[in-house]
Amino acid sequence: MAKREHFGSGAAAVMAMAGSAIGLGNIWRFPYMVGQNGGAAFIIIYLLAAFLLSLPILLCESIIGRSTHAGTFGAMEQLAPGTRWKWLGLMTVISPLIILSFYSVVGGWSIEYLIKASGSGFGEDVSSLFGEFIIKPWAPLLCHTLFLLLTVAVVSAGVKSGIERFNRISLPVLFVLIVVIMVYSLTLPGSAAGVRYLLEPDFSKITPSVVASAMGQSFFSLSLGVGTILTYSSYMKKEENLFTSGLGTAAFDLLFALLAGFAIMPAVFATGVEPGAGPGLIFETLPYIFSHMSAASPWLSRTVSVLFFLTIVIAALTSSISMCEVGVAYLVEERGMSRRKASLLVFAATWTLGAFCSLSFGPLSGVKLLGNTIFDFCDRLTSDYLMTFGSLLFVLFVGWKMKRETVRDEFTGGGTLRANGRAFGFVYFLIRYVAPLVILTIFVTNLVA
Ligand code: PFF
Repeated sequence: MAKREHFGSGAAAVMAMAGSAIGLGNIWRFPYMVGQNGGAAFIIIYLLAAFLLSLPILLCESIIGRSTHAGTFGAMEQLAPGTRWKWLGLMTVISPLIILSFYSVVGGWSIEYLIKASGSGFGEDVSSLFGEFIIKPWAPLLCHTLFLLLTVAVVSAGVKSGIERFNRISLPVLFVLIVVIMVYSLTLPGSAAGVRYLLEPDFSKITPSVVASAMGQSFFSLSLGVGTILTYSSYMKKEENLFTSGLGTAAFDLLFALLAGFAIMPAVFATGVEPGAGPGLIFETLPYIFSHMSAASPWLSRTVSVLFFLTIVIAALTSSISMCEVGVAYLVEERGMSRRKASLLVFAATWTLGAFCSLSFGPLSGVKLLGNTIFDFCDRLTSDYLMTFGSLLFVLFVGWKMKRETVRDEFTGGGTLRANGRAFGFVYFLIRYVAPLVILTIFVTNLVA
């Protein structure tokens, strides 16, 4: 078998992991959740969730990946050979591919909107644009195909020349784009209401269910429990610092989510429309805003809308690449395929499931799985169950199955990283006791809710 690749540096690994983390979740859910759930009060809760709960989970994945230098399945086989843990390895090969299937449909919509924004614009009547587009069978399928092809093209080029190179360019570009849009948005008359919406603290809004949804959002946002962080960490060299890489990833992800909030909400309020979450925010509210603004300054509004949809496409790509890599790594390392062939197989599988997801808005809208359309079923199955269940098993594995010494060794670089040595006791406590209990609570809440 070919020699296993590595990321060129710690910074490259952080960029790849942050690329996986920064995606649609930061843009279409986080800003709305903040505004709805107590502004700055929610941000504080989210910060605690991200650093005290999600970061330890991320570190567990990193420890498993880097200590074995193997993908999810191979890592479990190495650390717990011949045991049922191999099912965790297998589950985390499959879950990111399910996410990739429906994520790529949304990525496809973003491509369509980018094309629209750069061409004729959104026109006068934007209210029915989105609804009419997604029920069509062919155009969304074509865009889904295009998005997936771009994803697979990067992955099949390899860890260093594909994934690392793409993220090294994309991540700075994403930050520059979002800052430019934010500056524009903040200068619109009436934008201050959007800033208040995001920042005015209201602690009375913080209920147990808001805390649970902050945690759920932070799981999704950091791509946890589905093996992407594990696989990327397996490409990190022994001398890299797992703790600072994890901290950096969580910090970039949070920063981007906040910038996205300040890029979107001020414009929403300046136009006097109701903020919402999900596809409606990006594909209905924002085109409305852009077409509304175009009366005042057509050129500027066109430019900002192109930049905005470009940001979404790139952010979605950096995430989808990480999901694709989990499946490709499995096929290459465990099934002996070439990277090219493995990429094609992942493309075929996720294209097919994605096509069903795409058609579930139109011709297949009557097909229901446990009361959900195919798209919603895949979304709920992964976001509500597989990601939490995977996270729970990863922390249990590192906290209770792996030897404390091995975990400590990996975390402290064999004892050479002193600051990590000092933090280890606390982090290990979070991994062993706090994280499992909290994740279990969220998992059961999702099951009964
Ligand atoms: N973190 C991504 C987002 O916020 O959009 C979503 C995601 C990426 C989930 C990769 C899971 C994953 F494996």
